[in-house]
Amino acid sequence: MQLQGKRVLLAVTGSIAAYKAAHLTRLLVKEGAEVQIIMSTSALDFITPLTLSTLSKRPVYHQFHKNETGEWNNHVELGLWADIFLIAPLSASTLSKLAQGNSDNLLTATYLSARCPVMLAPAMDLDMYQHPSVRSNLAVVKEYGNIILDAESGELASGLSGQGRMMEPEHILKKIIHHFNKSKDFEGKKIMITAGPTQEAIDPVRFIGNHSSGKMGVALAENLASRGAKIDLILGPSHIEVNHPNIKISPVTSTQDMYKAAQAVHPHMDICIFAAAVADYTPADPAKEKIKKNEESMSIVLKKNVDIAASLGRVKKEGQFHIGFALETNQEEENAQAKLKKKNFDFIVLNSMNDSGAGFKHDTNKVTIFHQSGQKQVTDLLPKSAIADLIIDSLKKQLDPEN
Ligand code: PMT
Repeated sequence: MQLQGKRVLLAVTGSIAAYKAAHLTRLLVKEGAEVQIIMSTSALDFITPLTLSTLSKRPVYHQFHKNETGEWNNHVELGLWADIFLIAPLSASTLSKLAQGNSDNLLTATYLSARCPVMLAPAMDLDMYQHPSVRSNLAVVKEYGNIILDAESGELASGLSGQGRMMEPEHILKKIIHHFNKSKDFEGKKIMITAGPTQEAIDPVRFIGNHSSGKMGVALAENLASRGAKIDLILGPSHIEVNHPNIKISPVTSTQDMYKAAQAVHPHMDICIFAAAVADYTPADPAKEKIKKNEESMSIVLKKNVDIAASLGRVKKEGQFHIGFALETNQEEENAQAKLKKKNFDFIVLNSMNDSGAGFKHDTNKVTIFHQSGQKQVTDLLPKSAIADLIIDSLKKQLDPEN
């Protein structure tokens, strides 16, 4: 019972994902939470208050007053009662009201009155989710300090497939438990993380790159930052928005830029995580001007790039901790173990291109952690934020085996 005595105010808005609120309520109640549910009027078209009140064992509110008596459903009291306010699913329409401070219904008025942390689990079709107005409203509410539970990818009610599904109730439950358990266990730690791809110039308009999005490294940075660490995130070209007061971003392009940025901060770091997909080779002599297509074929001579992790591994000081990643397509374990030793990592996180949903670009990953001691830890396919959590818990155990 990991949520014993915790008060969860669960708000349900009009979305096909509203049916998942029933399962989520069951999971929360099973963990010992007191769950008070409020609904927007459009949520009533998707799930009945009777279902939710039966599962939460409390009346469900959806308007400012009780019909029978005209008595007021006090949104200020509801907002103050809760230890956490969770809106799941959150529709695009309610999201825009939250961003604007619109309080035309009980749910949005309660949101404005809540003093507790707020978690938002958006659910919508993939094109709606990517629409600039929705992206900008999400950025606005994140700026207000709300915790966004990113939509997951998969089949959508429209029949399309992509990102937009409400985070699965099991994953939301984990986030809530983590939120309450989370102490500032990395307070005072300085951590460098390399993330994203590198781009190696062929000429002023072309480059050699790779498919890394930066998601895995950013998930690690956000997890550690929320646990109190100060993060130097050295990020190759990426579209991800990162916004946390504990994260300082150094945007870089090439391997050389990434190396210079990492070398500058490395001596002051307690922990370094090498999650970037770095180019092993770079054009030996990039053209100063755009290469014209005069020839039938052309060759580019490549030279070996610096290996950032190996180079910093050679100057690793007593007490510094290095975590590496390995992205493999074949002989995965053997290659990962060889990199663990060769680059002087304390542990290495293997992700394989043979596991669907793992590695580059996905919102999910599946990894195996290999420790210097020979110990091995295999995970399921999980959102990258959950994988980051497992990696950091493993790090914590290694730094502080007693706890
Ligand atoms: O960014 P995402 O889309 O979320 O994808 C995440 C990821 C797949 C990029 C990430 O999980 C990952 O596996 N990163 C490392 C990928 C990689 O390049 O692995 P590698 O086996 O080539 O390199 C081994 C280690 O050495 C890595 O820690 C790498 O950062 C580091 N390295 C490699 C080459 C180099 N020149 N310098 C390095 O520091």
